[in-house]
Amino acid sequence: MKGIVVTPGKVGAVIKDIEEPGPLKPHQVLLKTLYTGICGTDRGIVTNMLGFVRPPPDAQELVLGHEGLAEVLEVGDEVSGLRPGDMVVPMVRRPGGCLQCSIGRQDNCEDGDFVEAGIRGLNGFMRERFADEEQYLIKVEDKSLGRLAVLTEPLKNVVKAYEVYTTLAKRFGVLCKDSTYGCKSVTVAGMGPIGMLFAMIFATNEFNVRAFDIHDTRGTAAGIAKQVGFEFFTVDGMPEDIMKSDVFVDATGNPGVVGSALNGVKRNGFVILFGTSSGGEYKLTGELVTQLVEKNTTVFGSVDGAKEHYLEALNYISMWRDMFPHALDMLITDEDKPEGAITNLIKKPQGEIKRVIRWG
Ligand code: BGC
Ligand code: ZN
Repeated sequence: MKGIVVTPGKVGAVIKDIEEPGPLKPHQVLLKTLYTGICGTDRGIVTNMLGFVRPPPDAQELVLGHEGLAEVLEVGDEVSGLRPGDMVVPMVRRPGGCLQCSIGRQDNCEDGDFVEAGIRGLNGFMRERFADEEQYLIKVEDKSLGRLAVLTEPLKNVVKAYEVYTTLAKRFGVLCKDSTYGCKSVTVAGMGPIGMLFAMIFATNEFNVRAFDIHDTRGTAAGIAKQVGFEFFTVDGMPEDIMKSDVFVDATGNPGVVGSALNGVKRNGFVILFGTSSGGEYKLTGELVTQLVEKNTTVFGSVDGAKEHYLEALNYISMWRDMFPHALDMLITDEDKPEGAITNLIKKPQGEIKRVIRWG
């Protein structure tokens, strides 16, 4: 069967014949891959920019892919909640031995002793078939979601970060006079899939959202913004006060953008860091440190998400499909066959938001 593999430490990905999954263990499920998504992490792996990438123990190569959607082909004797024909989203991160990992919160792992499918220590989902443990599979109850369900994995990251925000925002007690978030403003930097999903989650929770990116070659960001009800700007047409918001979300990883946000965010404001960085620097001055203190600024980073966030992500996808019939379809801008994905894994073509690979 076909699989897309990388050799950690080297640039490039290849499609090649790889081993079929072995005989099913009692708690395992045999899966047929339907779709996988491509994200910045995959491109970071393929271009050898991420220090933490490693193959499974005793292997040189790693099967890529952590955004998956698959169909159940066969179940082991002890599997109780899944049947052939069911559609599932596999979880990325698998627990190590720390306290957070032992309660299903490996997204908050304390010692780094976890593995991540397609990223570190565990083969991923860019292959025709794979076997996985039932406990790491999220059932997609509404199969009519089709390929939109492949957005569950990236969205679970956003759902978690949003939950961290609402938890931390309680430090200021009541938010708006009518008990909603309707008086709060949010700025999102970077309109890749993650920035887009952040804009969507804040907008549908009543925040006033403004988002920006350097360009929008195919007009997709503007189109989605119009449907969902947030404002979108390209950098050259951005209002001067774009950084002056209650909440700032960075999905660029650009230290200069983060620096402007730290300076610009309102009193009692939040700066949420999600985009990992491919370099650059920003000089932190004493004046800015004082300002962050004086303004009660909350800065936090957030990575990954737990099973509950995958489930909530699926609910958002169902809700959004009904609320904005075209927005999610527009967000998936490109679809490749496995062979066609190889060159696109190295470099992101202009105008792409989410690229997916269709396996079946
Ligand atoms: C994945 C996360 C993962 C992270 C690692 C992201 O692309 O969605 O689940 O923890 O990469 O940096
Ligand atoms: Zn990803």
